[in-house]
Amino acid sequence: MRKVDVILGLQWGDEGKGKVVDVLTPNYEAVARFQGGPNAGHTLEFCGEKYVLRSIPSGIFQGGKPNIIGNGVVLDAVLFRGEAEALAKSGHDLTKQLYISKKAHLILPTHRILDAAYEAAKGSAKIGTTGKGIGPTYTDKISRNGMRVGDLLKPNFMEIYKAHKARHEEILRSLNYQYDITELEQEWFSAVEYLKKFTIVDSEYFINNYLKEGHPVLAEGAQGTLLDVDFGSYPFVTSSNTVCAGVCTGLGIAPNRIGEVYGIFKAYCTRVGSGPFPTELFDETGDTLGRIGHEFGAVTGRKRRCGWLDMVALKYSIMINGVTQLIMMKSDVLNDFDTIKVATGYEIDGERTNQFPFDVDIDIKPVYTEFEGWKCDLSKCRKYEDFPAAFKKYVEFIEHETGVPVKIISIGPDRAETIVR
Ligand code: GDP
Ligand code: IMO
Ligand code: MG
Repeated sequence: MRKVDVILGLQWGDEGKGKVVDVLTPNYEAVARFQGGPNAGHTLEFCGEKYVLRSIPSGIFQGGKPNIIGNGVVLDAVLFRGEAEALAKSGHDLTKQLYISKKAHLILPTHRILDAAYEAAKGSAKIGTTGKGIGPTYTDKISRNGMRVGDLLKPNFMEIYKAHKARHEEILRSLNYQYDITELEQEWFSAVEYLKKFTIVDSEYFINNYLKEGHPVLAEGAQGTLLDVDFGSYPFVTSSNTVCAGVCTGLGIAPNRIGEVYGIFKAYCTRVGSGPFPTELFDETGDTLGRIGHEFGAVTGRKRRCGWLDMVALKYSIMINGVTQLIMMKSDVLNDFDTIKVATGYEIDGERTNQFPFDVDIDIKPVYTEFEGWKCDLSKCRKYEDFPAAFKKYVEFIEHETGVPVKIISIGPDRAETIVR
């Protein structure tokens, strides 16, 4: 029986998961998303084309292999339709390649409105969500009030939907939130019919049978470890388990069936939305990172906050996920810096710590180690040996600190701009 290898983010999302899933898909027979929803924006670039995927796994462009939307995902039929139709237009018809779990929960039109209403009610304490209804949908799942993809196939589907809508409307009234659902709802009804064109499966059986038959499977994470609902910078997190354990619950995979865990991180840090970010830079250097790295959200277009690499947070994420191989992204963004800093500890109330604290929203002073910049264009390098000594020193420092090898180094957004060691 084969195992499921996992790719997941070690920071606050947008590490480059989409690109790496696409690069690694040739080694696998199927790719599966295990959590999150259209809050994700996974960018892939190849042959001069650029695609941003939200709910559809990033393995669809490599050889027509099955791509699965697992039970742990929350699915918005309207956004899914937009995504699938745009792909079909560009020559990628997914109806035969894409499988959707019966147990994935549906994002209803009222979930999106509730997301906006809860954010408005929080005022300046808002999370800065993507507004896609993620929190309210997972809330309903956990409180046993959710609606699942499999429910669309039931004859009393309309009754089930109306009961959910009525409950949501009551909450919206209590929040005194004004909204107009008419258009959104019409789109949604039409989109759920479209959704039924795809193969709706018991994805836990599909994947486990696939493994039994000897096919290796790759699980694709969304968001990042520091946005995990249990281990992230709570409450400024998303509403799912983005960590490796989420693969077990989000796909129905037993823990002993997990193989390699690829942890992806940027050579620096970014965050979009509110919440603590210990190494955030508010100066010219932060702006430069954002400008060179084109740090704007793939889903909302919001400017991403930027800062130096945070080893305290990285080691924490590696521990939680049992990372076996590291993948460093966007190394090229640091090409022109004279000095590059890495936070190797935190100072809190005058005390030094190497532990990611319970409350990150406090006065944390990062303690930095400085590295000499490499000041050259990494995208010209074709193998690890071609890299300048200063860059290798940076990589090997990370390996030494974490005890995990950096197996893949990304030096540009294109599929080809990837160095595998
Ligand atoms: P994901 O959500 O983890 O899939 O990441 P996003 O797609 O949201 O954000 C990553 C961004 O960085 C995208 O615009 C990618 O095209 C881009 N990108 C990925 N790898 C590299 C790299 O090595 N260098 C540069 N300059 N850009 C990259
Ligand atoms: P990918 O998969 C970066 C952030 C939002 C907000 C918080 C909660 O592309 O890496 P939500 O809509 O999930 O309730 O928002 O999480 N967030 C992301 N940030 N990348 C993502 O996904 C994100 N998905 C959610 O900005 O701070
Ligand atoms: Mg993204």
